[in-house]
Amino acid sequence: MENSLPKHIAIIMDGNGRWAKKRFMPRSFGHRAGAQTLNKLLKEADKIGIEHITVYAFSTENWTRPKDEVNSLMNLLREYIDDYIKDNETSNIKIDSIGDLSRLDEDLRNKINTLKEISSCKKGLNLHIGLNYGGRDEIIRAVKKMYGELKSGSIKESDINEELFSSYLDTNGIPDPELIIRTSGEMRLSNFLPWQSTYSEIYISDKLWPDFNIKELNKAIEHYKNRDRRFGGR
Ligand code: IPE
Ligand code: IPE
Ligand code: MG
Repeated sequence: MENSLPKHIAIIMDGNGRWAKKRFMPRSFGHRAGAQTLNKLLKEADKIGIEHITVYAFSTENWTRPKDEVNSLMNLLREYIDDYIKDNETSNIKIDSIGDLSRLDEDLRNKINTLKEISSCKKGLNLHIGLNYGGRDEIIRAVKKMYGELKSGSIKESDINEELFSSYLDTNGIPDPELIIRTSGEMRLSNFLPWQSTYSEIYISDKLWPDFNIKELNKAIEHYKNRDRRFGGR
């Protein structure tokens, strides 16, 4: 039997740099095109009834890139948020973030909080943006929170199970992604959702992220629908 439409799709938006290079343009040009691709795709994904999309926008490892690229990514994020706030009334999309925001500049953190507030009443697709997100970092932060609560006595050792642990992760309340898509042909997860992806189906697209579109998303969903998901059973 075919699998039904995934509730949650997680996307590793990779290949902006290569897309720009092919056009003899700076990497920031590729990142800008990538942001537009995301906007278009979200509207389409909302229409077809996807409930959650998590996107990997900036990893804990991406700080190791040259400073000018990190700055241009942060400025693009500022613009992206400002545009969303400006067009807020026409949008149906509810936005929040996963990742450790404490390393971001204060003005950006404030913008992100405003964005979360103004989109909290939206009824459409839930977009979760990975910002300074790293799966190992997320797990370590979860362990520290849990340790604090163990020490204070609000939980006890025998309470600890997979469900409780999940509730300390940034993805608390979000179902695990049934499908993870990575663009640009790269076959790795790069520290994306290690806890949540244990039984996700993985789809690799050869398209560079700025060239990804609803047709490609539908292709990935069709593949997903025909996968035999066994979860260790038979
Ligand atoms: C993905 O594109 C965007 C981020 C990682 C921020 P890349 O910048 O990784 O593009 P490539 O992989 O170099 O082509
Ligand atoms: C993964 O892409 C991170 C994001 C898309 C934000 P990278 O381009 O950073 O990953 P690697 O370096 O190829 O593993
Ligand atoms: Mg890359």
